[in-house]
Amino acid sequence: MKITYYGHASLGIEVNNVTILVDPFITGNPKASHIDIDALEADYILITHAHQDHILDVEAIAKRTDAVLVSNFEIISHFEKLGLEGHPMNHGGQWDFEFGTVKYVNAIHTSSFPDGSYGGQPGGFVIEGEHKNIYIAGDTALTFDMKLIPLRTKLDLAILPIGDNFTMGIDDAIIASDFVDCDKVLGYHFDTFGYIEIDHEEAKRKFFDKDKDLMLLDIGASIEL
Ligand code: NI
Ligand code: MN
Repeated sequence: MKITYYGHASLGIEVNNVTILVDPFITGNPKASHIDIDALEADYILITHAHQDHILDVEAIAKRTDAVLVSNFEIISHFEKLGLEGHPMNHGGQWDFEFGTVKYVNAIHTSSFPDGSYGGQPGGFVIEGEHKNIYIAGDTALTFDMKLIPLRTKLDLAILPIGDNFTMGIDDAIIASDFVDCDKVLGYHFDTFGYIEIDHEEAKRKFFDKDKDLMLLDIGASIEL
């Protein structure tokens, strides 16, 4: 499983010869100006919630690639009206896709569309594929519900928001990594705008001091699990 960071909360995942994008927000992120969305492959696009900084490039990429969208029922209904293909889910449900299993899990946040219309409840994803298991938390506070994840799934990587203000910050993310029983963390949802700028060295040191590993990737960089 290969994971690429496209800035903010945008990810690419290559698993079992399928390419998944998560929460594509690239053309609106000046820090990701070197990423060309017209060059991105996508068989599936996973969407955690309806906020603009998670859906901005969904329509453009899905129209070009015919990617299947995976999200909550309300978000899929919204995009189906725009002519896109989707697979609706809701919290606690999982589905076996061609590339592996996806479970839509709880997040504590909000989920309105940019025009204020209802975007269902926000979530995260647990993805199991190629004998690797990852948790993509989405935008969320620290929540006890995270403790449910390791009851079913031994994670190899937890992808957690660390920018604070709109989501949990570093100190809560360290507790979250305990809750999900995974000491290997990829940080996201930081530095994109002023409210969520972080000190990278301090963040990594705080994880290191708890015998945990926080990875912060350059935009466009990848890791292999
Ligand atoms: Ni959000
Ligand atoms: Mn966000």
